[in-house]
Amino acid sequence: MKTVVVTIDRFDQENQRGSYQQDFTIEIPNGLTVLDCLNKIKWEQDHTLTYRMSCRSAICGSCAFRINGKSKLGCKTQADDVITNGKLRIGPIGNTDIIKDLVVDLEPFWYKLKKVKPWLFANKPKDTTKEFYQSSEGYHKIEDASTCILCACCISECNSLKVDKNYVGPAALAKAQRFIDDSRDKNFVQRTREISEPTKVWDCTHCGECSERCPTDAKPLSRIEEIRERVVNAGVHNNGGARHLLSFFKSVGSSGTLDERKIPIESVGIGNLHANLGEIMPVGLKMLSHGKAPSMIHHNVDKVGEVRKIFKKLNKL
Ligand code: SF4
Ligand code: SF4
Ligand code: FES
Repeated sequence: MKTVVVTIDRFDQENQRGSYQQDFTIEIPNGLTVLDCLNKIKWEQDHTLTYRMSCRSAICGSCAFRINGKSKLGCKTQADDVITNGKLRIGPIGNTDIIKDLVVDLEPFWYKLKKVKPWLFANKPKDTTKEFYQSSEGYHKIEDASTCILCACCISECNSLKVDKNYVGPAALAKAQRFIDDSRDKNFVQRTREISEPTKVWDCTHCGECSERCPTDAKPLSRIEEIRERVVNAGVHNNGGARHLLSFFKSVGSSGTLDERKIPIESVGIGNLHANLGEIMPVGLKMLSHGKAPSMIHHNVDKVGEVRKIFKKLNKL
């Protein structure tokens, strides 16, 4: 048995208590999960403590909390692995509004999920009297995304979501990949266009937090990279994200370096420059005033030939 002080971030609007932290001291044996610790507190000390849970087996996705500041599943996290100097801190997941204590409002999460149409638009099977099988090879492409349990751990630490509440977020994008790559789906073209719209696949900044926090193999950042590959290969280039990627590719391919004079212009699109001047000018001026504008002279870099060789080799793969 060991003594642990569990600090819980609480929130109780109904009883006008607002946000506050509360310490609970508990005695726990080895082998308890963080969710077991919460249950012990609720059942033995304070039945008003509110949180979601159901399966206790890392399947239902209900028990995502911030444990020592990072989102994790309570039922999949051994208390011993996260207790430091007899202390443990538990709070609600981030990038969400809190309803009560550790319960957050997941309505925006479900709403964004629906935006990527997470259901099959089935190509008609030849024989409708039999199951509509996915091949092993086809399933392999969607296997990782299919393990998502919709726990919302990934959205908690997403940096893009923090700055733009409209961004659909990593869970919805992982789900989108699952259907874009489903060989039985007939809406591939429409899906690749829709996922390239603003607030979707190109708005991720690759911080990697979603994959780091994801408790399954869904690993959203890898799924986002797969979608980007699909949309570019499918020729959906009429957006800033795809243009930026292609400009980047062209620049490294031709000179072995990033030509930062051209990339911002090509990312906006030469034909769009005039229409977007109001948006681009303030950014350009800000960069200039902070000494961050790219130099007008393109400098060569040491061993740039090596970069070209790597590029050539990768491009042949
Ligand atoms: S990698 Fe992209 S989607 Fe994932 S947390 Fe970072 S910004 Fe969000
Ligand atoms: S992608 Fe991972 S972290 Fe995000 S909801 Fe699905 S299982 Fe949870
Ligand atoms: S209680 Fe179901 S995932 Fe933790």
